[in-house]
Amino acid sequence: MLEQRKADHIRINLEEDVGFDRLTNGLERYYFVHQALPELDLEQIDLSTFFFGKSLRAPLLISSMTGGTERAHAINRTLAAAAQEAGIAMGLGSMRAALEDSSLAESFLVVRSTAPDILLFANLGAVQLNYGCTVDDCRRAVEMVSADALYLHLNALQEALQPEGETRFAGLLDKIEAVCKNLQVPVVAKEVGWGFSEEMARRLANAGVAAIDVAGAGGTSWSQVEMHRADTEARRRVAATFRDWGIPTAQSIQMIQQGAPHLPIIASGGLRNGLDVAKTIALGARLAGMAGPFLKAAVISTDAVLETIEITAAELRITMFCISAQSLDEVRGTSHLVRRT
Ligand SMILES: Cc1cc2nc3c(=O)[nH]c(=O)nc-3n(C[C@H](O)[C@H](O)[C@H](O)COP(=O)(O)O)c2cc1C
Repeated sequence: MLEQRKADHIRINLEEDVGFDRLTNGLERYYFVHQALPELDLEQIDLSTFFFGKSLRAPLLISSMTGGTERAHAINRTLAAAAQEAGIAMGLGSMRAALEDSSLAESFLVVRSTAPDILLFANLGAVQLNYGCTVDDCRRAVEMVSADALYLHLNALQEALQPEGETRFAGLLDKIEAVCKNLQVPVVAKEVGWGFSEEMARRLANAGVAAIDVAGAGGTSWSQVEMHRADTEARRRVAATFRDWGIPTAQSIQMIQQGAPHLPIIASGGLRNGLDVAKTIALGARLAGMAGPFLKAAVISTDAVLETIEITAAELRITMFCISAQSLDEVRGTSHLVRRT
């Protein structure tokens, strides 16, 4: 059943309209004030950064997507090859299937064997901690792929919309805290497309997470994905009601900063080009992730994924040139990002 669900998710994301209806990532409310005389050369611009002890050639991340099926194996290998060549980070899809059935582990293992040097995030659903997943299981997931950190994703709305959804979220924070205390690698809380509020960020920071991946609203809408999967008209209607649910990415970044001012933020959720990436960095993010666009490229070729990365990096570099920012630190400190009134 889990394998079928993973296969459905890939197919639906590739074939159906899974966007939000009117809700956007909120970044269009911001613009950079153009600097006509940047006083630096385009080629001087440096996109490199460090995160969790790894160096990256650009502050980019292929967000968590998949694993556990044959198609996922091919997609993961393609994504990993591009991440390795471009020197960017990658997140794995939920590794629960591999923990339960070691014959499904290969589609995750292939990522580390193809990309030995990248910053790699293992991934499990936080709610699994209420369904028998232990700290040891989290450790196994990390060790299986020599991950640098563990994503615990929070997807309450998605679970609520799935016929087979696991919706016992009570008492989860203490368990997340136990994972943070007992794991050797940093634990990162991640949404899947509805963002984090100030209060949630504060609680997760107090529980010991080392960073938050926004995965805000405005890109892939998982209520839409579940709507396309719905097997009854009633389920379809319920899912459709939540098409525009969630906190837009731009707003969520600011809420997280309010609730957890010292935590590094990974921006994601509806980012579609390097200008979006630049805006999230100016708002305070350290890395920026995309899922949907990389999935579409991965089913074409490694070169198509590399092209998506190169275009995004070029757009980021040109934005930095035109706001006179030589480094990512200068983007974060810029006064040239303005909110439209
Ligand atoms: C096919 C697919 C599968 C996904 N599976 C996972 C998953 O297993 N774990 C997770 O944390 N997020 C998962 N996501 C969510 C993404 O990591 C990301 O947070 C979300 O799609 C929003 O980013 P986007 O608008 O750039 O697509 C998945 C996304 C896609 C498109």
